[in-house]
Amino acid sequence: MNEGIEQLIEALSFSPDNIPLRLHLAELMVKGFMLDDAAAQYQEVLNRNYGNDKARKGLASVFYKQKKYSAAILVYEALVADNRLAGEELIPYVKCLVKENSHNEAIEIYKKVLQQNPNFKDEELDGVLRMPSANATGRRRRNEDDDDDDFEEDIEDMFGGQEFEEPNFLMEKPDLKFEDVGGMKKVKNEISLKIIQPLKNPDLYKAFGKKAGGGILLYGPPGCGKTYLAKATAGEIDAKFISIGLHDILDMWMGNTEKNLHEVFAQARNNAPCVLFFDEVDAIGASRSDLKGSSMRHVINQFLAEMDGVEYSNEGVLVLAATNAPWSVDSAFRRPGRFDRVIFVSPPDAEGRTEILKQHLKDKPADNIDLAAVAKITEEYSGADLKALIDIATEYKLEDSLASGSIEKITTKDLLKAAKQHKNTTAEWFSTARNYALYANETGLYNDILDYLKIKK
Ligand SMILES: Nc1ncnc2c1ncn2[C@@H]1O[C@H](COP(=O)(O)OP(=O)(O)OP(=O)(O)O)[C@@H](O)[C@H]1O
Ligand SMILES: [Mg+2]
Repeated sequence: MNEGIEQLIEALSFSPDNIPLRLHLAELMVKGFMLDDAAAQYQEVLNRNYGNDKARKGLASVFYKQKKYSAAILVYEALVADNRLAGEELIPYVKCLVKENSHNEAIEIYKKVLQQNPNFKDEELDGVLRMPSANATGRRRRNEDDDDDDFEEDIEDMFGGQEFEEPNFLMEKPDLKFEDVGGMKKVKNEISLKIIQPLKNPDLYKAFGKKAGGGILLYGPPGCGKTYLAKATAGEIDAKFISIGLHDILDMWMGNTEKNLHEVFAQARNNAPCVLFFDEVDAIGASRSDLKGSSMRHVINQFLAEMDGVEYSNEGVLVLAATNAPWSVDSAFRRPGRFDRVIFVSPPDAEGRTEILKQHLKDKPADNIDLAAVAKITEEYSGADLKALIDIATEYKLEDSLASGSIEKITTKDLLKAAKQHKNTTAEWFSTARNYALYANETGLYNDILDYLKIKK
């Protein structure tokens, strides 16, 4: 045994109540890896001087070193309750919680450390507690053998049957109706059959053994009215509308994304009839290979469980989702009862373009415009592009009106000129989509793209 230690033990036999001496002895024992002896000395200090901070901290850290995590947690808990731990002193506590699979508590405490010192980094903890999501900076590391069964339990623990009272997500009651959306006849029809009619005639659907539920996934180039149509779907049936950008609910903390997902579904259920619209659904659907063994898998499972409505009824909740990148959406999303309708929202055809132009010119001073002429030269323009033409033409006219002092109306010529200035923005999307439609179309999922591009199947 170390000589210094022997001398200290002897000295203590003469003055057993010398607390600083005993603490010093315990420290030396820790350094000499005599962990059991150190623990005994710390206990002895506590017997003589109840609640001694140094002894409690020392004891906790010895337990931690001995991998006696639950014992360490008990001591740390008491220290935290007495406000005796600050900053990085909390880190071993967080690590014990992680070892004991108390991730939520671990996250709470780790957040406190980061609040006090935003620059603090701990690779091990970042790896376990943070999500590899869009907002996250750290990467989560998982063991390959960490299977999904634990996850179900985690989720149950997490929610413990508690109710979510306060609505957290922005909800509106849109005035927009189907008739405000130009073109898109086929898409409107599908939405009507698949989700509006079942809502209006539940008994009829039941009689034919058709279960309401499931959702529609809209995909296509940007600006072609996916979001607009989702909103109009809510307006059409006088339902509430919750639009969620998935990037908004992906949280850097493990477990929080699942909680957010649960909350948004709960809010929709409490406010039925309600259209729940998930934008950028590819954000969590990212293809399997990227996700293997990652915690994103858990998020997908949570999403699907909520959608399947196993635990809670989704009656009156219509789920729509949109993406520009359907090829990134996990195929598990497309099983029956989930997003089993995947609909291509193409740029509008000439008739659609005419309607959209008419729609957006409705409230503007416009001269008898030759809509067909404008529609003719705007092939492949998206709805948003057409709206942009009108905005540009409006600007010309505002300038003219300011100069002349009276209201100058928008003319066909203005729109044709605007079309020279603003080209269609859908081409880039099609150059990617084309490849998927040609080379990754085993299930025929992208046949509509081939049709649109007039490529033979
Ligand atoms: N069919 C349409 N009828 C009327 N307006 C339309 C139509 N399509 C698009 N628009 C106009 O273009 C705007 C943008 O459309 P929207 O946001 O719905 O496109 P999106 O398909 O969701 O695009 P992104 O993929 O970029 O999210 C709408 O707010 C609307 O003003
Ligand atoms: Mg959109």
